[in-house]
Amino acid sequence: MPIKSLIRTIPDYPKPGVQFRDITTLLKDATGLRHVVDALVARYSDAAVDKVVGIESRGFIVGAAVAYELGVGFVPVRKKGKLPGEVLGHDYALEYGTDRVEIHSDAISPNENILLLDDLIATGGTAEAAAVLIEKLGGNLIECAFIIGLPDLGGEQKLRTLGYKTFSLCEFE
Ligand code: PRP
Ligand code: ADE
Repeated sequence: MPIKSLIRTIPDYPKPGVQFRDITTLLKDATGLRHVVDALVARYSDAAVDKVVGIESRGFIVGAAVAYELGVGFVPVRKKGKLPGEVLGHDYALEYGTDRVEIHSDAISPNENILLLDDLIATGGTAEAAAVLIEKLGGNLIECAFIIGLPDLGGEQKLRTLGYKTFSLCEFE
């Protein structure tokens, strides 16, 4: 099923020059949503995943669905100041701006197998920050998976150079 055709592109959002890949049009389509979740579950069903980590906010949607189907727990990586407990944080650069992500210090136990999920990888700064947090907590990061890869922005290449495995269901130029 061609999920790319269900993803809407909004030019110049949130800043001039950005081609915003909007997954809300994919998520509202029952077949499209099922396809995305099923494809990711199929890829990782034999990977001995212990937990899925999803990145705020769009990574929560598909991350929670995949965790549920894999029968494992879900851990949120959130923007700064949103998690109530003791956190570990890491700063990162975005395609547009800078930010900081945090994870609860007790969210992952050493040697747990972790699948990192987000809707999209652009520069890779967000995923790299989440990967650093997962590894600082002792997690074994199996793969970083995305609905959308933007290869021109080099994020997946950067993660691979750092030694992380990556996977995207589709790509936009
Ligand atoms: C988007 C997207 C990824 C990140 C990718 O999130 O959902 O998390 O940017 O960019 P990068 O690869 O250059 O780091 P955003 O920060 O816009 O937050 P949102 O999901 O809450 O909209
Ligand atoms: N996050 C970072 N870059 C993005 C883009 N081009 N479309 C949607 N989300 C993004």
